[in-house]
Amino acid sequence: MKVDVLLGLQWGDEGKGKIVDVLTPQYDIIARFQGGPNAGHTLEFEGIKHVLHTIPSGIFRKNVLNVIGNGVVIDPVIFQKEIEKLAPFNIDIQKNLVISRRAHLILPTHRLLDAASEAAKGKNKIGSTLKGIGPTYMDKTGRNGLRVGDIFSPRFREKYQALVEKHIGILKHHEGFEYNLSELEPAFFEGINLLKSLTCIDSELFLNQELKAGKKVLAEGAQGTLLDIDFGSYPFVTSSNTITAGTCTGLGVAPTKIGSVIGIFKAYCTRVGSGPFPTELHDETGEEMRREGNEFGSTTGRPRRCGWIDLPALKYAIMINGVTELSMMKADVLSIFDTIKVCTHYEIEGKLYDYMPYDIEGIEIKPVYKELKGWKTDLTQLDDINSAPAELKEYISYLEAELEVPITVVSVGPDRKQTLKNLELSR
Ligand code: GDP
Ligand code: IMO
Ligand code: MG
Repeated sequence: MKVDVLLGLQWGDEGKGKIVDVLTPQYDIIARFQGGPNAGHTLEFEGIKHVLHTIPSGIFRKNVLNVIGNGVVIDPVIFQKEIEKLAPFNIDIQKNLVISRRAHLILPTHRLLDAASEAAKGKNKIGSTLKGIGPTYMDKTGRNGLRVGDIFSPRFREKYQALVEKHIGILKHHEGFEYNLSELEPAFFEGINLLKSLTCIDSELFLNQELKAGKKVLAEGAQGTLLDIDFGSYPFVTSSNTITAGTCTGLGVAPTKIGSVIGIFKAYCTRVGSGPFPTELHDETGEEMRREGNEFGSTTGRPRRCGWIDLPALKYAIMINGVTELSMMKADVLSIFDTIKVCTHYEIEGKLYDYMPYDIEGIEIKPVYKELKGWKTDLTQLDDINSAPAELKEYISYLEAELEVPITVVSVGPDRKQTLKNLELSR
């Protein structure tokens, strides 16, 4: 069997958690391949909203195994809180969750370094989630990091202390940055104890064995393609490969083992944190989108910047990921508008571009829009795409023609049930 992949095509928060949850009954295993608690994946069913950060979004379905892959970075403190939040829902964590021994650990000092680095950048800050993601991946590539497997070593405390000393040395260069590490450490070691009590495995061996045995695996991405460390809007990106290739390195599966690639996007566009956003709306329309879409960060609560859909960026993301099918999210949010705009090109110094140029920071980009008629109909009760208003069908057909990939799922609300399969193409 092959690994199907689900990942975000924009700047994150496309609705990955919801669609992974919807697709989970078709799979035996859901495996997160990168990112860490900077992610906030929301699932809604039976009137309850759940937000997951490190744990894969298949966790609420029975008889499905959830894998935290080697590409993920884990903060034991946040992880423990996530596990505790699951307690009322009768989930057998020992049976349904396994963790790669190669996944790296976020130390309290990584969080401090993230905060110190952002403070030092001032108005040029990345707008990081302050979860220690950048410093942890830096230690991974710098070959200093601590991994889940290390917690079982009798020398773990020693290794921890050596890395902390290094971090303290760096923090000394951040004049005026105050912290109290001893306040943060007890929760960290409590989280480590919890991790120790769970199933930590060589997940790359396990996943390949399971694939050989015919098991179906869905890889769950975090963040989005435009936040990818190589292909995103650098330096305003996260520190991991959020793209399909990240599945191979983040789970240990070969490129030849990749099956369908499900790219997920909002019917418009949002971004949290700093960095370029060509179609961003600074006016009342942007405010309306934020209000209607409840666009506030699932992890940090920050208001998300909002704008119209951006085809040059989406086409780029589809190319980089080899997307084979698309899920379009939050179509219901656009119901309030008479006219819906789609950015088809960027105009830069009088020239038209249909792709994202190398450096879009600090230059004036004028989005060129095509206008489509809005549907002005509540979609949230819709249970069949065939009954959708003609204008929505036109919007979908237009996007499919432009993007050259079928939209197989259309989402019309946050609940599991508010998910429409699109025509006979659907899975
Ligand atoms: P993720 O990080 O990609 O999993 O996305 P988030 O959970 O951070 O953000 C998506 C938000 O939109 C969450 O609050 C979801 O509950 C919500 N959501 C998902 N799909 C839809 C939809 O089709 N319509 C509406 N109105 N909300 C949605
Ligand atoms: P999910 O998985 C949206 C953004 C941050 C910041 C930049 C770097 O829920 O889609 P980091 O903490 O990674 O160093 O922050 O990336 N960011 C996200 N934005 N959704 C996310 O995850 C994000 N994870 C990081 O806002 O701009
Ligand atoms: Mg999110």
